[in-house]
Amino acid sequence: MGFIRIEELKPGMKLKTDLVSEKGELFLAEGTILSEREVERINNLEITYVNIADSEEHNPIEYYEEFEKEMLEVQDEQEGKILYEIKEEEFKRRYDDSYNTVRDLFEGIRIGKSADLDDVRKPVETLLSLLLDSFSVVPKLLRLQERDDYTYRHSLNVSLLSTMIGKWLSMGDEDLKNLAYAGLFHDLGKCKIPLKIINKPGPLTRDEWELMKHHPVHGYNILKNTSDLSKNVLMGVLLHHEREDGSGYPFGYKGEGIHIFAKIVAVADTYDAMTSSRAYQKKTSPFKVVESIAHDSFSSLDPKVSRIFAERMSRYFVGNTVKLSDGRIGQVVYIYPNFPLRPVVMTDGEFIDFSKKQRISIEEMMG
Ligand SMILES: [Fe+2]
Repeated sequence: MGFIRIEELKPGMKLKTDLVSEKGELFLAEGTILSEREVERINNLEITYVNIADSEEHNPIEYYEEFEKEMLEVQDEQEGKILYEIKEEEFKRRYDDSYNTVRDLFEGIRIGKSADLDDVRKPVETLLSLLLDSFSVVPKLLRLQERDDYTYRHSLNVSLLSTMIGKWLSMGDEDLKNLAYAGLFHDLGKCKIPLKIINKPGPLTRDEWELMKHHPVHGYNILKNTSDLSKNVLMGVLLHHEREDGSGYPFGYKGEGIHIFAKIVAVADTYDAMTSSRAYQKKTSPFKVVESIAHDSFSSLDPKVSRIFAERMSRYFVGNTVKLSDGRIGQVVYIYPNFPLRPVVMTDGEFIDFSKKQRISIEEMMG
């Protein structure tokens, strides 16, 4: 598209280069997708032209319609209390069904039974249909009580989150179903690792860690030999600990060499592991975890997957209470699609826009 006059700017357009003020300060970064408010802010600057990227990906109208639709659906549901409660129950019931089946499957494999995936299919697909038909599974997932057994809950959550990410990346139904399986089975290979290592309340020794690093390969072998799952699912399981910069295991593959399913499961796995409390690890707030995932999009996690995850997850922080570094308490009232971690916060009747430089910061997001 190239340089266009600022009067012609529209929300949804994407900056081709950094927008810098006369004093050399960065005003908006390259790649920013302009919101209505940002278009207004640019219009107040002393400039005439802005360099806009060609964009097949972002049709401004579609982008905004989609964004508003999602926000509206979530809000409607929160206001329509009866409908909301029924749905929450329904979600819990299907979640529990899947949880029990996953537990039976994992326990069976641990005692040497072969994996019978037919038992898992139905509950997982019913849970999945709920996820595909609803915009509001993520908040429900965030409110679920933690359970005693980490592995089963974690497997199910990674399955749901991986499918959500696939949906956000506009993947088709067959891929979404397979992503649900890849997430569900990503740690299946841990059934082959001695329980005393799995449940060890502290750091592993070198030898224990070497054994632990085999779990993706064990999982791959169990599934390859006992099922007719798609190759995508097998790759998601085998490569979910590989990292973009080659720092992962078991093979140390880099960027392009890592299957997209594995990249998605990696983000979902990281998020759920960090937001859960375990014997030796305190849970971290979802805000900090999303912040850290966005940060890792520059090194170990796939940039496209982790950025869409950070952007979409952060929308659920609207309405959350935050503690500011000056001790004040505020409420998140707006999240910029492109600066998910720099929201607008209202405190004492004042709006603080963290997308601009502020002398205070957000210390804690309290939910
Ligand atoms: Fe794993």
